[in-house]
Amino acid sequence: MEPENRLIQVLQIKKAKEGTLFQRWQISGRDSEGLEYEGFFTPKTVSGVWEAVQKELQAIAEAAPTSIGRDRLTHFLWDFHVKLPENKKGRTLGQVALAPYPESTLVPMIREVTDFSTGRVDPFLLETTFLWLYPELKSQGSLERILGPRALRQIAHLLDSATSDAINLLECAVIRDGSRIDLRSAAVCAVAELLKVPHLVVPAEAVTILLNGKAIEGTFMQRAVGLDPKHPMAGQAGILAQQVPGKAGQAGIPAGQLPGKAGLAGISVGQLPGKVGQASVRRPFFTGFAGSGPKALADLQVLDYICGNPDRHGYNLFYQLDDHGRLTGVQAIDNDCCLGRLLPQSYESHALLTGPLHMKTVSYSMWEQLTAIREDSLKKALEGFELEPEEIAAAAGRLSLLKQALKDGQAGIHVISESEWDSMAAEDLDHLMEYDPSGDHGNLFTRARVTLEEVLGSPRI
Ligand SMILES: Nc1ncnc2c1ncn2[C@@H]1O[C@H](COP(=O)(O)OP(=O)(O)O)[C@@H](O)[C@H]1O
Ligand SMILES: [Mg+2]
Repeated sequence: MEPENRLIQVLQIKKAKEGTLFQRWQISGRDSEGLEYEGFFTPKTVSGVWEAVQKELQAIAEAAPTSIGRDRLTHFLWDFHVKLPENKKGRTLGQVALAPYPESTLVPMIREVTDFSTGRVDPFLLETTFLWLYPELKSQGSLERILGPRALRQIAHLLDSATSDAINLLECAVIRDGSRIDLRSAAVCAVAELLKVPHLVVPAEAVTILLNGKAIEGTFMQRAVGLDPKHPMAGQAGILAQQVPGKAGQAGIPAGQLPGKAGLAGISVGQLPGKVGQASVRRPFFTGFAGSGPKALADLQVLDYICGNPDRHGYNLFYQLDDHGRLTGVQAIDNDCCLGRLLPQSYESHALLTGPLHMKTVSYSMWEQLTAIREDSLKKALEGFELEPEEIAAAAGRLSLLKQALKDGQAGIHVISESEWDSMAAEDLDHLMEYDPSGDHGNLFTRARVTLEEVLGSPRI
């Protein structure tokens, strides 16, 4: 029998916000054992990109003045999807077998009707596409008469608004319509446990919250530890608050799952002129990486790769800095777009998914884990999160691709031991950076540095 979700009585909702993909509620609450919770709750969310666009398209179709217009508009997405040549459908998707039913493959379709000089869907390209799909309409008068005077412009607008980050991410990760999304951040924790790096991701678990007597299923994620690059000042006050033992916010998930000492070190009180909670907190400079910092980034690169995470930009990390402004650790947030079906065919990177070719390094301890882990244990760890069998198989596929890269040596990955991390000079660490001319900052070392310099400034610039 499936274990029942932990039940959290919500005491307070502090903030609700629309994330890229769904709502997040900042809550505090308590479970039946009296453990306190403070963090972010995401209600159960199932992806439905295609469905949402189809629904709006249907409304446009129903307003069409002719029955043939209504019919063609109703079938437009599906017909376009089927007719779009396979090579175009597949080009962002890696090695994915496209099933013959509607799914989230809107991005390449929208690209086909986008005017690249404006970056917007062009009604003229849409019209050309429509007539290419339905040549029988050519003899029936103008499309405006058949579809309605504003239909093409409305569809252009609809497709433009559909090209959001969310859809791009789901496309990139190859997460199909109908898949549960919120629980993926808990699944990533299971992979982190397996790789023996649980401190690198914020603990998340399936829960049911009780809000005004109503039970709502979803996923609860603890508050991350470290400096939030989106709110660098608030982040520091947050770090200090969380270092006070016994404070709410650390309860909930058993102590064993909390980040280790190094992870919690963050910024020491002594460095800061203000007191905990006071506004006058001095912002440190970012001065570079120290021992456990680059190792954390190296290990997270591996975790993200196995999880097929297309969204690890520098603002989806919390940063722990020492007294000298050196990065000593990170904790990853926003892990909901992981574990789709993306299975790269080469050692290359896929946008923000850093492939073996750009990793540069793995830590010795991670190398040991990777050597020891079998595909079956990864598959087992991923049970119970409502992932599809193909998604679990893709994770196993990425694991074996990475193991292969380490074995054949073609990606040029260096294995770095614990003592080597500590004795690395700044120039050596610079060699871990990968620069990507397209602007995605080739690997996580570069992304972390660029973000920290952007947010905190650096004495070097
Ligand atoms: N677990 C967390 N702990 C602390 N802050 C968080 C946490 N999750 C999200 N946040 C805050 O909310 C912001 C947006 O959350 P995120 O999960 O990145 O959603 P999205 O990028 O989809 O909007 C983050 O940049 C961070 O400031
Ligand atoms: Mg984010």
